[in-house]
Amino acid sequence: MALLEATGIVKTFGKLTALNGAALSVAANEFHGLIGPNGSGKSTLMKCVAGAEVPTTGRVSFAGADITEASPAERARAGMSLKFQITSVLPALTLYDNVLLALQGKSSLVGLVFSRSRGVLHDKVMGMLERFRLAGRANDPASALSHGQQQWLEIAMALASEPKLLLLDEPTGGMSLEERRVTGELLQPIKAGCSLVIVEHDLDFIRDICDRLTVLDQGSVLCSGTVQEIQSNPKVQEVYLRRA
Ligand SMILES: Nc1ncnc2c1ncn2[C@@H]1O[C@H](COP(=O)(O)OP(=O)(O)O)[C@@H](O)[C@H]1O
Ligand SMILES: [Mg+2]
Repeated sequence: MALLEATGIVKTFGKLTALNGAALSVAANEFHGLIGPNGSGKSTLMKCVAGAEVPTTGRVSFAGADITEASPAERARAGMSLKFQITSVLPALTLYDNVLLALQGKSSLVGLVFSRSRGVLHDKVMGMLERFRLAGRANDPASALSHGQQQWLEIAMALASEPKLLLLDEPTGGMSLEERRVTGELLQPIKAGCSLVIVEHDLDFIRDICDRLTVLDQGSVLCSGTVQEIQSNPKVQEVYLRRA
């Protein structure tokens, strides 16, 4: 059974049909890329999965439960985490405090008050910063980071809850080539315990890190399959050439 299964997703905004029966199926520990031309509905589909938008019709199930109308908070409790284009980093706080807040947001208040949590939390915060090559900057304000490092900090924060599924909408936007390469390296290890759905324009990047791809075109799925299957699909080549 898939970890995430979205079927028959229609989303209209007034007269505009952003999604027209789109679907997305992601297995546990799978890295899944969502690609397609601008305006094809990628972000809208991500939002329907994350709970930022409710589909007009269609169902979304996650870890065996129907979550079509669940709130973002309920989805987070079920093990979903996301980083969208709008930043969740608090620039005036240190990296350490940003990650600490992300971790605390996921623990219950009672748990924090009664546990010997300070030491445990400290180790977790530093462990997370180390994984994302930011430990040396722990006491710097987040505003002092480069654009790429801010994106890594956000991914670290999104992973603080140890989610089963991470959703990333264009995380490498504005990154240098080298920062993109490092991003791919930093994401790889999370596969051991987490699936990923990632929207990306950079096809080389997505090819390198993803197991499977879904191609959207005008709100519908053009095709879905392994990276090799998608690459050799003439329909995909046509869509990208048509829109180039
Ligand atoms: N909140 C909204 N209100 C009206 N139209 C929207 C809204 N969100 C997205 N759209 C429209 O839906 C279509 C798909 O958008 P989007 O999902 O952002 O595409 P992508 O992420 O693939 O570029 C576009 O035509 C866009 O203008
Ligand atoms: Mg988008």
